[in-house]
Amino acid sequence: CGIVGYIGHRSANEVLISGLRKLEYRGYDSAGVATIPDIDGSDRSLHRVRAKGKLSQLEEKLKADTAPTAPIGIGHTRWATHGKPEEHNAHPHTNTTGNLAVVQNGIVENYHLLRIELKEQGHIFVSETDTEVIPHMIAEYLTQLAHLGNVIPERSPSVLFEAVRLTVEKLQGAYAIAVIHADYPDELIVVRQQAPLVIGIGKDENFCASDTPALVAYTRTVIPLENGEIARITKDAVQVFNAKGDRLRRAPQTLNWNPTMVEKQGFKHYMLKEIYEQPGVFRAGLARYISEANHVQLGLPAGFIDSIERVEILACGTSWHASLIGKYLLEQVAGIPTTVQYASEYRYSPPPSLNNTLVIGVTQSGETADTLAALELAKSRGDRCLGITNRTESSIARVADAIIDTQAGIEIGVAATKTFIAQLLIFYLLALDFAARGKLTEVQIQEFIEGLRQLPAYMERILEGQERYIEDLSRLFTHTKDFIFLGRGINFPIALEGALKLKEISYIHAEGYPAGEMKHGPIALLDEDVPVVAIATPGAVYEKVLSNSQEAKARDAKLIGVAPIDDLAAHEVFDHILPIPIVDEIFSPVLTVIPLQLLSYHVAAHRGLDVDQPRNLAKSVTVE
Ligand code: G6P
Repeated sequence: CGIVGYIGHRSANEVLISGLRKLEYRGYDSAGVATIPDIDGSDRSLHRVRAKGKLSQLEEKLKADTAPTAPIGIGHTRWATHGKPEEHNAHPHTNTTGNLAVVQNGIVENYHLLRIELKEQGHIFVSETDTEVIPHMIAEYLTQLAHLGNVIPERSPSVLFEAVRLTVEKLQGAYAIAVIHADYPDELIVVRQQAPLVIGIGKDENFCASDTPALVAYTRTVIPLENGEIARITKDAVQVFNAKGDRLRRAPQTLNWNPTMVEKQGFKHYMLKEIYEQPGVFRAGLARYISEANHVQLGLPAGFIDSIERVEILACGTSWHASLIGKYLLEQVAGIPTTVQYASEYRYSPPPSLNNTLVIGVTQSGETADTLAALELAKSRGDRCLGITNRTESSIARVADAIIDTQAGIEIGVAATKTFIAQLLIFYLLALDFAARGKLTEVQIQEFIEGLRQLPAYMERILEGQERYIEDLSRLFTHTKDFIFLGRGINFPIALEGALKLKEISYIHAEGYPAGEMKHGPIALLDEDVPVVAIATPGAVYEKVLSNSQEAKARDAKLIGVAPIDDLAAHEVFDHILPIPIVDEIFSPVLTVIPLQLLSYHVAAHRGLDVDQPRNLAKSVTVE
């Protein structure tokens, strides 16, 4: 979910909607805003507008809204956890009298018990969400404080702040919240507890948001809150406190940001733009991490990998696929035993701890709750922790001992593309860094770097030469229900990634399999309606993949090969070829993934689906 808050001289609704638009990647099944309109002299009241569906639905509703403009408000775009994506479950949520509103990103784990207690105290609940307990609890504390004559500890800046602080003491889970109250119209209270929250500082106005893109149109001066912190934001001040209510000193940071990074620049979708950005991202990574003398310089602290004997990688989704290729590279190029774990599994069943292990968390958002928690667990066990991300200002930077910036920049399309390629490059370089300890000679390392340098031009050739063809080909699959993707060795993870991309954006059921495993089960699915995509690149397993593809062909499956263009054997086997230039097998995933990204993009686009915001998904999953 994404949250935004504003207090200042502009129309709160405008700031909230523009911010939410930038946060829609965090969830988009419903949205809402609550404001306190400026009505001089009369009693202030809270005004709330919510809508099911995309943000545009909320915007439509706001157009018809006649409430006066408001100088303060909070907004939310939701990715449903507790309760269906219906309007009554949309945020902001209020207390029974409706004068205080709360938006939340995350999960309140003990909401069930709190809800029972609050109901017994007379609070009326109208949603199925975990969030709704928060406004009721704050209201309950405000009533209790009022009975005591609103006497609050001296260090506490306001009654509303104190009520929120007392509420937060009772909440369990990982969340960020923002609170406004009609009786206290000059302040916005925000809390960060293991879900991101950044405060933006302006002149006679201040902001808060789950992520910086929501703020950059207004300010680049920010204070990212740390876990357990509460802040009181007024139009001309920001005060940060710890959970006990002690005031903290915080120096604002300046964001390094180029606004064109979040524009479509003539492409129909962000996803297509990001697919096309891949050669540039790869070049940027090479320029950043290969020195003039042609040495890998990842900028890690001195001695960081010196004593490392094994690597454990933790990730989710597409980052997990990049990590599988990372394992292949670390093991086959550098001889470092490596395991890859789903972060969500590692959290509750970590393998026995071994000395001299480097644990790597890989995440494009830098905010995936499972990956962060898994990395924190590894850190608490004494492992050295490295983060690989394109969002260096995100939460993973606070958890890991060192961070490598993949140089991909922010990615907007929910289906990851350029961030995947950029993660791959870091694994190539990391493997080389390890290999330089003796596994490869200097000459071999130089050859390897030369191989990497050639890839961006090949990537461009695929993009320029094939998009039209793939667009045509994709029409054949507009009504296809199932797909199988096959690959072996270093391209097995690409089969998984090809299947995931198709599932995510076209909603076609797809499975990725190691080609040699097909005969042990998935082959039973094959008939003329189930196309098979095989990644067949010259190298150790080329003939094997071709034979496995023949087995599929014998069961009437339509065969699509990601294969070299001029290869006779490939032409004999495949009905359609998505050609790729011949490179050393070790580099092939950087190329083979591109036709698969384009294929899933065009199939989804032909089906008329929302490519950048596929149903049920979110770009940044900050809940368990
Ligand atoms: C979400 C996104 C995926 C992404 C996964 C892991 O599910 O929709 O595209 O691969 O999270 O995200 P991360 O930010 O940790 O790489």
